[in-house]
Amino acid sequence: MTTARPPIAMLAELTHRCPLSCPYCSNPIEMARQDRELSTDQWKDVFAQAADLGVLQLHLSGGEPATRRDLEELVQAARDAGLYTNLITSGIGLTEKRLRALDAAGLDHVQLSLQGTTPEMADEIGGYRGGFKRKMQVAEWIGAIGFPLTLNAVLHRRNLHQLPRALEMAVEMGARRIEVATVQFHGWALKNRDALMPTKAQADEATRIVQEARLRLKGTLVIDYVPADYHSDYPKRCMGGWGSTGLNVAPDGQVLPCHAAQTIPHLTFDNVRDRALSEIWYDGAAFNAYRGTDWMPEPCASCERKTVDFGGCRCQAMALAGDPAATDPVCVKSPHHVDLQARAEAHAAAEDAALVYRGQPGKPVIEPAE
Ligand code: SF4
Ligand code: FES
Repeated sequence: MTTARPPIAMLAELTHRCPLSCPYCSNPIEMARQDRELSTDQWKDVFAQAADLGVLQLHLSGGEPATRRDLEELVQAARDAGLYTNLITSGIGLTEKRLRALDAAGLDHVQLSLQGTTPEMADEIGGYRGGFKRKMQVAEWIGAIGFPLTLNAVLHRRNLHQLPRALEMAVEMGARRIEVATVQFHGWALKNRDALMPTKAQADEATRIVQEARLRLKGTLVIDYVPADYHSDYPKRCMGGWGSTGLNVAPDGQVLPCHAAQTIPHLTFDNVRDRALSEIWYDGAAFNAYRGTDWMPEPCASCERKTVDFGGCRCQAMALAGDPAATDPVCVKSPHHVDLQARAEAHAAAEDAALVYRGQPGKPVIEPAE
């Protein structure tokens, strides 16, 4: 028996394949191979199960979801199941014809990632020459078709100075929302902390810019903000609380409480090939491992913020404290907090650190120019 409520949102990672090689990629170090990806019919069944379970919003993600040739068919199936569909894309692999087909299939919303506001920055960070130009073309098509658009600007030490321009671009593109997300250091991004960690001054400036822009652009643009948490005093409420509002389905059908959950070695994950989605959500061992507050040790157990942030991020606690049940070291009450802030300063001071690109077998880091 459990008191868990139904999930609101599901992230369907349709594939780990991706034309970009971002050094902060949030996909697992060990990616699901193409021959392990769920088939079209299996995804359709998952979407129907998700709707029955109570999911309202479906985020179609990857990797690059446009890499899946059946994307239009999957969108149609999700709409037929009654789900609100959001495509999370870099834009690479989308043509105007394909976007129109997605519109006809019922796609509700597009979330376009932004690696930088200039071709030089964006192409360097994405490891894909010509990517920025392509993305700007895709943004025009998105506007012409009339999809509601969210821009997702991922920021770090190298491009934080471009935040004001990213906000301008969101307005120019007619986006209703921008997600200003400072890089979260999970998975592959951990290899790039020296290259990407913002300085404390940059992190503070970003917060100031966001606060000012929220007032100035009220009614025009909604700004979601994920601050540089290594420099913060309280952690983020990761996933809205473990197993409380959302679930992720990996390309091979494993069902995860969050995108980085596979970094917690003692957890085992159910697969939609073997078990019904509702059983996995309510009774799965991984979902119940850190659900609610009963699992919390001190200082979280007696903290007045325990239902505000649910102890922060389990994957970050694993990566930084070696214990997924520990208080997130971002928190001032964590015994690791002081050490973390010192490490953040040290990472931020490593000025000459080179980017370590996300590699995929058989794919060059920088694609040839068209
Ligand atoms: Fe959140 Fe735990 Fe820190 Fe309290 S002690 S603020 S619950 S992370
Ligand atoms: Fe896994 Fe935060 S990323 S709980």
